[in-house]
Amino acid sequence: EMIESIRRRLLPWFRRTQRDLPWRRTYDPYHVWISEIMLQQTQMERGVAYFHRWISRFPDLAAVAAATEQEILKYWEGLGYYARARNLHRAARLLMDRYDGDIPCDYSELLSLPGVGPYTAAAIASIACGQDIAVVDANVARILARLYDIEQPVKTAGCRQRIDALAAALLPPGKARIFNQALMDLGGLICTPKNPDCDHCPLAEVCRARLRGTVADRPVPASR
Ligand code: ADE
Repeated sequence: EMIESIRRRLLPWFRRTQRDLPWRRTYDPYHVWISEIMLQQTQMERGVAYFHRWISRFPDLAAVAAATEQEILKYWEGLGYYARARNLHRAARLLMDRYDGDIPCDYSELLSLPGVGPYTAAAIASIACGQDIAVVDANVARILARLYDIEQPVKTAGCRQRIDALAAALLPPGKARIFNQALMDLGGLICTPKNPDCDHCPLAEVCRARLRGTVADRPVPASR
């Protein structure tokens, strides 16, 4: 019912309107990985520009591993959070040693890499490898808090568990790559933190917060 109608509305919307992002051309795991690290704390447009520049200088993991840290940092210059670049460099060298430069698809192996946390491991495993793993970031949490009109503050453990469970239940088996990215695009383009564009939302008819008029009050921020 609710789950089915969300899937049925979201997937065609994504197929129709998805953004032409460079890593979506091939879903090369290296491209997906770089994009996921770059897009943390970075706006999409800026991330895409840096992505192109990075890939032309470091076309594969071997090129990253062979570069000096100084050069790695030069191509990260302006993005901030330089630990991300240092971790990328360390992970590339590890992967060259461990897997001859292949990027693993196993969630736990991904999680063991420097700079790869639960979000990034889930994103690579699902988007690059097609594994059935739900990705929950702030965008997804916000969308689910609105769809299900969740009244608990999002940062609480109970709410976090509920959102993780909902995201896992919603994931259509075999379609994690597009479903996860559909939620990301919906959160980035339509179901934004401020002034969400409900008039163009493919899920408007099934969104409980929309039906109850609480969209502006969801998600509920941490209480002080
Ligand atoms: N943000 C992080 N990863 C993304 C992706 N693959 N598509 C859209 N937005 C994203």
